[in-house]
Parts: sequence; structure tokens; C-alpha cells
Amino acid sequence: MTRRPANDNWPVWLIALHWGIAFALVVMVGAGLLMVAAEEHAAATGDYTVKVLGVPLYQAYQLHKSIGITLFALILMRLGLRIALRVSGPDHDHPLPIQLAAGAAQVVLYVLMLSMPITGWLLAASSPLGLPTLWFGLVNIPHPVGPSAEREAVLATLHRLGGYALLGLAGLHALAALKHHLLDRDGTLHAMLPILPNPETRQ
Ligand code: HEM
Repeated sequence: MTRRPANDNWPVWLIALHWGIAFALVVMVGAGLLMVAAEEHAAATGDYTVKVLGVPLYQAYQLHKSIGITLFALILMRLGLRIALRVSGPDHDHPLPIQLAAGAAQVVLYVLMLSMPITGWLLAASSPLGLPTLWFGLVNIPHPVGPSAEREAVLATLHRLGGYALLGLAGLHALAALKHHLLDRDGTLHAMLPILPNPETRQ
């Protein structure tokens, strides 16, 4: 079977999933940080009527968990389809170390994207408050572990650091895409953003 080159158009739904997931992940990190700040404010003042972007705190938590679980399924689905359809990045003529580093960064990005919902799920399960995880209020997602304040603290730190690392790596990923477009002048970014002109086919 043959590999598609990067400048061969990706299926439009894989492109839509890419941008949808990227946008949702950035919003999830921002909203997660705001949510925890609101929770700390509520704990300090006793005012639990506090809202996160207009959403009451409890609902904000449930929404965060529901969107996170949905993202987990979408990321897995996209990765599975990418592998099944053999859609992959380009074969550049960059030196081998650069190609290896780019490949490693992509693997780490997927590991981070998939590990965030897992640490979040374990974190929610470990909360001594024992609140359920209701997927959009419809499905009760079972908790794999019971409450434990110690485990909750460790997972909260992992979840927060994972969020920062995800933002950092997503930023590097975006810079690398811009380098392809502006300096290497190849079709990598055009493949994922077809409204941009393809530098490879321009004079
Ligand atoms: C898809 C990816 C996800 C991202 C990017 C994300 C990101 C974040 C971030 C940045 C925070 C703030 C952490 C802090 O300031 O300490 C947070 C908090 C939280 N997240 Fe997520 N999250 C995701 C998925 C999930 C899922 C699936 C669940 C549960 C099923 C979850 C449960 C929580 C909980 C309970 C908190 C509050 C932690 C605390 O009170 O210390 N997250 N999330």
C-alpha cells in the first residue's frame, strides 16, 4: 500500500476533526484553569453560587468532564481512522534527526491528548466529594477507583501539568506548521488548511 504525500488533500472530515479537536482542547485547558480558580474562590469565601463563563460551578465541572470524555472518543477515532486510511505526514528531505524529533513530538502530542481525559477521569473518581460523572446529564460514567484525597492531589497536579504541556506542545506544533509554510515553502500547512495557497504550486 502507498502512503499519501502531505500535499495530497486530506479527507475533509479528518481536517474538520483536526481543527475541532484543537479548538476544543485549548478551550478545555482555559476553562479548566478558570474552573479551579472559581472553586478555590468558592472554598475561600463560602460563596458556591460563583459561575465559570456564566455557567454555575457544578454544571461547569459536569460540562468539562462531558466534553473531555467526548474528546477522548474523537481523538481515538481520528487516530484510528488516520492509521486505517494510512494518511500520514509528508516524507520531507530534512535531516534524519529533525525527522525523528518531529515524529517524536507528534507521538508525545497524541499521548498527552489521550492522557488528559484519563487523568481527569481518575481525578474525578478520586474526589472525596464522591460526585458522579454524568455525560451531558444522560449517562453515568462509572468511576474505576474510589475516593482518596492523596490520589486526588497527585492526579490534580498531573492533570494541571499535562494541560500546560499540551498548550506548550500545541504551540510548537503550530510554529512548526508555520515554518513549513513560510520558510520551507512546502504544502504541509496547506494540506490541513486548504484555504491557504499551496507554496509548492506557486511561482
Ligand atoms: C480533554 C481533555 C482535558 C483537558 C485539556 C483538561 C484540562 C484541565 C485543566 C487545565 C484543568 C485545571 C487544572 C488545575 O488548575 O489544577 C482541569 C481541571 C479538572 N478536570 Fe480536566 N481536562 C480534560 C479532561 C477532563 C476529563 C475527561 C475529566 C473527568 C472525567 C476532567 C476532570 C477535571 C476535574 C475534576 C478538574 C478539577 C481539578 C481540581 O479541582 O483540582 N478533565 N482540566
